[in-house]
Amino acid sequence: MDLFEYQARDVFEKHGVPVLGGIVARTPDEARAAAEQLGGGTVVVKAQVKVGGRGKAGGVKLAHSPDEAAQRAQEILGLDIKGHVVETLMIAQGARIAEEYYFSVLLDRAERRYLAMASVEGGVEIEQLAVERPEALAKVAVDPLVGIDAAKAAEIVAAAGFAADVADQVADAIQKLWVVYREEDATLVEVNPLVRTEDGQIVALDGKVTLDANADFRHPEHAELEDAAETDPLEARAKAKNLNYVKLDGAVGIIGNGAGLVMSTLDVVAYAGEAHGGVKPANFLDIGGGASAEIMAAGLDIILSDPQVKSVFVNVFGGITACDAVADGIVHALEILGDHATKPLVVRLDGNNVVEGRRILAEAAHPLVTLADTMDGAAAKAAELANS
Ligand SMILES: Nc1ncnc2c1ncn2[C@@H]1O[C@H](COP(=O)(O)OP(=O)(O)OP(=O)(O)O)[C@@H](O)[C@H]1O
Ligand SMILES: [Mg+2]
Repeated sequence: MDLFEYQARDVFEKHGVPVLGGIVARTPDEARAAAEQLGGGTVVVKAQVKVGGRGKAGGVKLAHSPDEAAQRAQEILGLDIKGHVVETLMIAQGARIAEEYYFSVLLDRAERRYLAMASVEGGVEIEQLAVERPEALAKVAVDPLVGIDAAKAAEIVAAAGFAADVADQVADAIQKLWVVYREEDATLVEVNPLVRTEDGQIVALDGKVTLDANADFRHPEHAELEDAAETDPLEARAKAKNLNYVKLDGAVGIIGNGAGLVMSTLDVVAYAGEAHGGVKPANFLDIGGGASAEIMAAGLDIILSDPQVKSVFVNVFGGITACDAVADGIVHALEILGDHATKPLVVRLDGNNVVEGRRILAEAAHPLVTLADTMDGAAAKAAELANS
């Protein structure tokens, strides 16, 4: 989950990273009040959208008085920044910037460790810098078992070439940003710009934080950081039932057991769909190993609630949970759903106890269910039904 800048600011503050005051505003009046609360001096009105390049798109503006803050807010609210419409602002205390730096730490999956990056040439052109003069962006590997301790922070500061008069302060900020990364179970913490102010303070003026959803169980407090407007309602329902569901744009609903099988099912359906008016998969849904009737019903219920879905492909490979148990699950799920089940289902079973599984489905002879022998055949049938 990506955080908004104002949420990142709060998390930074919680862990002692130096930040300036920042107050959320959703209307020009709230922006004026926030600017007053921050002392009535210079503030920066900042669009809160989860996309980079806000400043260049006109989403970050200085205001020298509360009235001006309200005006700037009026201009920025409703702005479309790369497809994200601005509904929320952060009114930030204005900093007198002497220099802009860059720092980030992220998960380096390929190397199985973390990677810290730092530059004394931060600011809005950092992407360009990384391409044109990569040597100006220091990259330092971080051992997950050690993290960024004082020695590692000093190494990063030296590699990036920070001046002696700020080195200690920057190293301190970097260690605190590491604490944010570790304590919050983040996969990315990025500060651009980290600045030196005219009076010699090091401050994080912008923050991007991505939290690792796999660690949610350790952080009940992260639930409130979720942006309800952003989450697809079907995805939210699936999450509440502990289902691995991702909404896609097509018309063929997909249910499978095991992420790998579901991924290949998406491919097979997309391929089969080419011969049937270009129909595509409507979702990813992995019901996992123990596909009980309840889980199958919950999964089907969510998929059938998607108005874009025209047909459903249930693709199950019987393993520890054998095909007969899955077939029972499908039959009972359709009983549970009753009239709510309205769209044709193509079921392909294979693997452990497949003969018995197919027998159960054939005997139930549910009018909506078509049995298929092969994955390709099932995909073609589901695509055909979605297109008819
Ligand atoms: N509180 C502040 N006081 C003074 N100047 C600021 C403040 N916040 C941002 N700025 C200036 O505005 C520039 C852009 O701000 P910021 O980094 O927050 O947005 P951005 O980089 O355009 O957005 P993104 O990081 O999403 O691409 C900064 O590089 C800095 O020069
Ligand atoms: Mg920035």
